[in-house]
Amino acid sequence: MTATTTPDQAFNELIDNDARIESTDWMPEKYRKTLTRQISQHAHSEIIGMQPEANWISRAPSLKRKAILMAKVQDEAGHGLYLYSAAESLGTDRATLVQQLLDGTAKYSSIFNYPARTWADIGAIGWLVDGAAIVNQVPLCRCSYGPYGRAMVRVCKEESFHQRQGWEILHSLANGTAAQKQMAHEAINRFYGPALQMFGPPDGDSPNSEQSMAWKIKRFSNDELRQRFVDTIVPQAEALGLSFDDPDLVWNEERGHYDYGELDWDEFMSVIKGHGPCNTQRMEHRRQAHADGAWVRDAAAAYAERSNAVETALISA
Ligand code: 3HC
Repeated sequence: MTATTTPDQAFNELIDNDARIESTDWMPEKYRKTLTRQISQHAHSEIIGMQPEANWISRAPSLKRKAILMAKVQDEAGHGLYLYSAAESLGTDRATLVQQLLDGTAKYSSIFNYPARTWADIGAIGWLVDGAAIVNQVPLCRCSYGPYGRAMVRVCKEESFHQRQGWEILHSLANGTAAQKQMAHEAINRFYGPALQMFGPPDGDSPNSEQSMAWKIKRFSNDELRQRFVDTIVPQAEALGLSFDDPDLVWNEERGHYDYGELDWDEFMSVIKGHGPCNTQRMEHRRQAHADGAWVRDAAAAYAERSNAVETALISA
C-alpha cells in the first residue's frame, strides 16, 4: 500500500492477493453486512442445531454413547460462541444478533427444523449433516475475513469427530439385526434430501453467491459443494452396506460425478420461511432457554461491573 492508495484499493489488493481482511481494516459496508449475516446465521444454526440431538442424550443406548453425544452437543455450543465472537468483531454486538434470531428476523439452517425420530437419526445427523457441514466449511477456513476463517479451522476439526461418531452409530446398526439395518436405511433416507439442501438454493437462485465468491467469502458455489458432497457419500453408503432411495442417483461417466434427483425446493423454501416440521418447536424452546438464562447474563454483567470498579479503584489508588 502506498501513500496514495485509497482504502478500497487496499481492500481489493488484499482480496486479490488472497490475504486476510482483519476487523480493524477498512472494508466496504456491504462486505461487512454480508459477513455479519452469514456468520450470525451460522452461529444461530450451531445453537439451534443442539436441539434435535440434545433430545437424545437421555435416550442414547449406553453410557458411552450418552457421553459421546453430550460432548458433541457441547461442541456445537462452543462453535456458536466462536462464531458469535467472529460476528461481533464486525461491529454488531451479540445481544443484537441473538435478538434477531429470537424475533425471527435472522435465519438458521433449514436442516435443524427436521425431527430426530429414532436413534438411527442421530447416526444420520452425524454422518450426513455434520458431513455436509464439513464439505461446506472446509473452504470457509480460507475465507477472506480472518476471524471467520480462523474460527472455522477448529470448528472443522471438531465436525470431523462428529461425522465419525455418526458413521460409527450407523455402522453398528447396519451390521446389527435386520430391524436395525432397516432403521439405519430409513434414517439416512429421511436426511438425504434435507442434507443436500443445507448447501443452499441452486446457483441460479442464490442471490448472494456471486458477490460472496468475488470477495472470497465463499470459495465454491452451492451446487459445486453439493455435488462434492454427493460424490463423497455414495461410496461411503456402499461401505456401510446401505443405499439411498433416489432412483436418479447414478454415476455419470461423462461428467465424472454422480447425477442425483431434483430436490424439493418448494419444501426448502417453506422450511426457511418457518413452516418446517419443527420450526415452531425449535424457536419456542430457544426463546424459553434464553428467558431462563436471563439471571446468568445479569449475574455475569454485575460481576464484570464490580470487577471493573475494583480495577479502576486499584489503578487510581
Ligand atoms: N437454510 C436456511 N437458509 C438458507 C439455507 C439453508 N440451508 N441456504 C441458504 N439459505 C438462505 C440464505 O441465508 C439466504 O438468505 P438471506 O439472503 O435472507 O440471508 C438465502 O437463503 C439465499 O441463499 P444464498 O445461496 O444466496 O445464501 P449464501 O450465499 O449465504 O449461501 C450458505 C448459503 C451456503 C448456507 C452460506 O451462508 C454458508 O456457507 N454459511 C456458512 C455455513 C452455515 O451457516 N451452515 C449452517 C449449518 S451449521 C452446521 O452445519 C452445524 C453443524 O454442527 C452440523
